[in-house]
Amino acid sequence: MDLYEYQARDLFESYGVPVLAGIVADTPAEARAAAEKLGGVVVVKAQVKMGGRGKAGGVKVAKTPDEAEAAAEAILGLDIKGHIVKRVMVAAGARIAQEYYFSVLLDRANRSYLSLTSFEGGMDIEQLAVEKPEALARVDVNPADGLTLAKAKEIAIAASFPAELVDKVAPVFVKLYEVYTGEDATLVEVNPLVLTEDGDVIALDGKISLDENAAFRHPNHEALEDKAAADPLEAKAKAMDLNYVKLDGEVGIIGNGAGLVMSTLDVVAYAGENHGGVKPANFLDIGGGASAEVMAAGLDVILGDAQVKSVFVNVFGGITACDAVANGIVKALEMLGSAATKPLVVRLDGNNVDEGRRILTEANHPLVTLATGMDEGADKAAELAAR
Ligand SMILES: Nc1ncnc2c1ncn2[C@@H]1O[C@H](COP(=O)(O)OP(=O)(O)OP(=O)(O)O)[C@@H](O)[C@H]1O
Ligand SMILES: [Mg+2]
Repeated sequence: MDLYEYQARDLFESYGVPVLAGIVADTPAEARAAAEKLGGVVVVKAQVKMGGRGKAGGVKVAKTPDEAEAAAEAILGLDIKGHIVKRVMVAAGARIAQEYYFSVLLDRANRSYLSLTSFEGGMDIEQLAVEKPEALARVDVNPADGLTLAKAKEIAIAASFPAELVDKVAPVFVKLYEVYTGEDATLVEVNPLVLTEDGDVIALDGKISLDENAAFRHPNHEALEDKAAADPLEAKAKAMDLNYVKLDGEVGIIGNGAGLVMSTLDVVAYAGENHGGVKPANFLDIGGGASAEVMAAGLDVILGDAQVKSVFVNVFGGITACDAVANGIVKALEMLGSAATKPLVVRLDGNNVDEGRRILTEANHPLVTLATGMDEGADKAAELAAR
């Protein structure tokens, strides 16, 4: 889960990372009130989970409450790369002497943490990585050792910070790492980290991605979720504890085990090339226990997707044998009744497959077609979706 800048700012503050005052506002009038409260120069900033807000006109300096109101007027409703701005943060203005970049993230390939740091901030970091890779220091942080002050100094030196600045930025790196581990984040990024004209180091922007698998040990994270912005189908699936990701196609997919579902997506996309380019509509892994309830919940979510024209159920019977899955499908269709309206192609294999097929054949549901192989099933489902 990605956080908004103001949420990152608040978390930073709670860990002692130096930040400036910031107040969120949903209307121009609230932005004016926030600017009055903060006093002095403020910066009105679009709150969207998308980079490059500044360049898109989503960050504006305001010298007076009048200007803050006008800035909020201009920014609220703005479309930043497909994200409509619904909220701004009015932040105290910093007098910036220099801009730096710092991030720490999960490096899956190396099974480690990685810090990326640059003395040359203010630039698009992706662009910097391509055009001037030597200016971006990449330093591994061993999770077992953590980011100690000594390590932080090593990072600052690797990023070419001059000696007198190393001692200033290193403690901030340590605090940011504390946010990263303390909140079970997969990314903490500050762009820009600034040095002010008064010589203070401050995080002027913040991006945090939280690891949702760790949500159980962070009761405070649920409140950070933007339920209104979530895809309604994904929200429904989440409420039912399903691993569902909405995609942009026409063939609904249900499978068990993430690996099987992923390969089903590939096979359906491939088969779709022969049927007018239809594509998979979602990822849905119903996991090990493919009970009738889980199957019904999965079908319910998929059939709720107006884009879906057919569904491909591809299940490999293991501990939950194929007969149980077949019974699950039959019961799920009963439970859904008239809500089940789209053709289903079912391919079962594995433990007790013959019994599973027999149950489905006997049930003889008008919407269900049995397939023997994965390719055949994918082709049939794609054909039905293209009709
Ligand atoms: N509180 C502030 N005071 C003064 N200047 C600011 C402040 N916040 C941002 N700025 C300036 O605006 C620039 C852009 O701000 P920010 O980094 O928050 O947005 P962005 O980089 O465009 O968005 P993103 O990081 O999401 O791509 C900063 O590099 C900085 O120069
Ligand atoms: Mg930024």
